[in-house]
Amino acid sequence: MKLFLPRFLTMLLLILVGSSGAVRAATLSISCGAVGVEMRLCRQGVEAWAKQTGNQVKVVATPNSSTERFALYQQILASHSSDIDILQIDVVWPGTLAPHLVDLSQYIGKDATKQFFPALIANDTVNGKLVALPWFTNAGVLYYRKDLLKKYHAQPPATWQQLTDTARRIQNAERKAGNPRMYGFVFQAKGYEGLTCDALEWIDSFGGGTLIDADGKVTVDNPRAVAALQLARSWIGDIAPRGVLNYDEEESRGVFQSGNAVFMRNWPYAWALGNAKDSPIRGKIGVIAVPAGGTDGHQTGTLGGWQLAVSRYSQHPELAADLVRYLTSYAEQKRRALAGSYNPAIPALYRDHDVLAAVPFFGTLYTTFEHAVARPSRIAGSKYARVSAEFYYTVHDVLSGKIAAAPALATLQQKLTRLSRGGQWR
Ligand code: GLC
Repeated sequence: MKLFLPRFLTMLLLILVGSSGAVRAATLSISCGAVGVEMRLCRQGVEAWAKQTGNQVKVVATPNSSTERFALYQQILASHSSDIDILQIDVVWPGTLAPHLVDLSQYIGKDATKQFFPALIANDTVNGKLVALPWFTNAGVLYYRKDLLKKYHAQPPATWQQLTDTARRIQNAERKAGNPRMYGFVFQAKGYEGLTCDALEWIDSFGGGTLIDADGKVTVDNPRAVAALQLARSWIGDIAPRGVLNYDEEESRGVFQSGNAVFMRNWPYAWALGNAKDSPIRGKIGVIAVPAGGTDGHQTGTLGGWQLAVSRYSQHPELAADLVRYLTSYAEQKRRALAGSYNPAIPALYRDHDVLAAVPFFGTLYTTFEHAVARPSRIAGSKYARVSAEFYYTVHDVLSGKIAAAPALATLQQKLTRLSRGGQWR
């Protein structure tokens, strides 16, 4: 096992290998997301490490959409380019990107993975290789306007039917009271990975499974999944604007944060921004789990989150691994939780008083985070991106009224079964 060299030894090494005998610092590059305050927080973390170690780091912005970012990474990695040393990768990508990533276990101490949620470490371990470290986790949550629910004597909804009724009642009353732009519910329904996350929540909350089961069998065509999509279809143009068919996370947040929606499905990052000094809805936001489909369904939340990985084509893998270790550390994850309500990937931080004071629902929704429903990326392996695309295109067609839920899911079932070669995904 190779442990990290103490920092002074690393510096000494750099001096010795430097051609002129002077310290030759390396320049690394890291790709970071830029949703909300992500970019600023990434930059701050990276700069602190650069200052400590005397190296330089270029921060490269990538598209907000997980789908587009994936396409970009595939291009960069397929060309074996050394342009990006550290990649911020989605929780659903380790299986696909593993061949291009460094095994981090050779650079970090054996115990270094112990602080993280074991399920995330398992997710980031592919064929025995630790291909990434968890940076922040995620689960879909339901945001609501506390002030509006109070004004109309409504309770936070436990089921989708309650949400639908409350959203419609408050939306119509607020429109009458003078806000024609008011909507009941906003979420992510553009054709991209975000819609896979939202629609998986609808289906799971109805007890309709997770598209593919643990044995690899495609399960998406079932009456509960059909009922879930039918209900979601009924929201479009009623409690949700038709424009939602083009919304990603930031567009939904824009509507909710400007005060024009009663409910919003989003990830936890929207909490810090919604409560920022300049936010019109500061102090007026409640957060609960995504509602249950009905009395035999359950509340839920799709598992999301981002990891940091080192490219196999990096010219400085050991140094890059050190930056990954630094950025995923307890202190950094705490800073990000406080400043941006990013869910730590470290369970101990959910017992940290500062964190719980800044983001109270990290405490009240802990079990939702712990039991968040995973997209079928582990079982589908490198075919996951195609599974997800088939799914979100199908759901998008249903929501836009192009096809009814039942025949759409029957066709999807056939397509995915064909793709799986009879349940053998690998
Ligand atoms: C969030 C999640 C990520 C998911 C994406 C979809 O960034 O953390 O896992 O794929 O949203 O839009």
